[in-house]
Amino acid sequence: MNPVEFDFPDPIKDMEREHGLIKMVLRVLEKVCEQLESGKPLNKEHMQLAITFIREFADKCHHGKEEALYFPAVRENNIPEEIALVDGFIEEHTIGRGFVKNMADAIESDDVSAFGENTKAYIKLLDQHIDRENKVLFPMTEKTLSESKLKELDKGFEDVDKNVIGKERHEELHDIAYKLKEAYLQ
Ligand SMILES: [Fe+2]
Ligand SMILES: [Fe+2]
Repeated sequence: MNPVEFDFPDPIKDMEREHGLIKMVLRVLEKVCEQLESGKPLNKEHMQLAITFIREFADKCHHGKEEALYFPAVRENNIPEEIALVDGFIEEHTIGRGFVKNMADAIESDDVSAFGENTKAYIKLLDQHIDRENKVLFPMTEKTLSESKLKELDKGFEDVDKNVIGKERHEELHDIAYKLKEAYLQ
């Protein structure tokens, strides 16, 4: 990588990287659903960790950056196709929060079938959501957002990582994702 590329802020690539980690946890949840269907008991401790990761990393950190910084920047472009995508994505974030609440409630009440049902719905929703952000909106806005806007987003994302989540918590959330990966995907 040459120094020029290294210095160029790439907040969109950062969001893609976050998608990668979120998808890894979705694959864990997929495996958990398979195991539950074959009669394995629900591992409450692991699933509470998965809920923590989803709520703090996927939602507060990643969706938080999209909703507070990236989507408003996209809206400023005033391109109807981009605005329609953003509206749909925000709606999907809200629907996803509902599934996650149901998943958390199902863990508390040991309701394996409600957990499985809501988890499968969440996986389906978020997989297609991430794929459309990666393949449709991100490539579009890589071209339509100005370099100064991208720099501003880069700074804003850094601020969320440092001050909203905190460096230490960020690392803990990564560790949770890899701990779950090791327990289910090896
Ligand atoms: Fe999103
Ligand atoms: Fe996203």
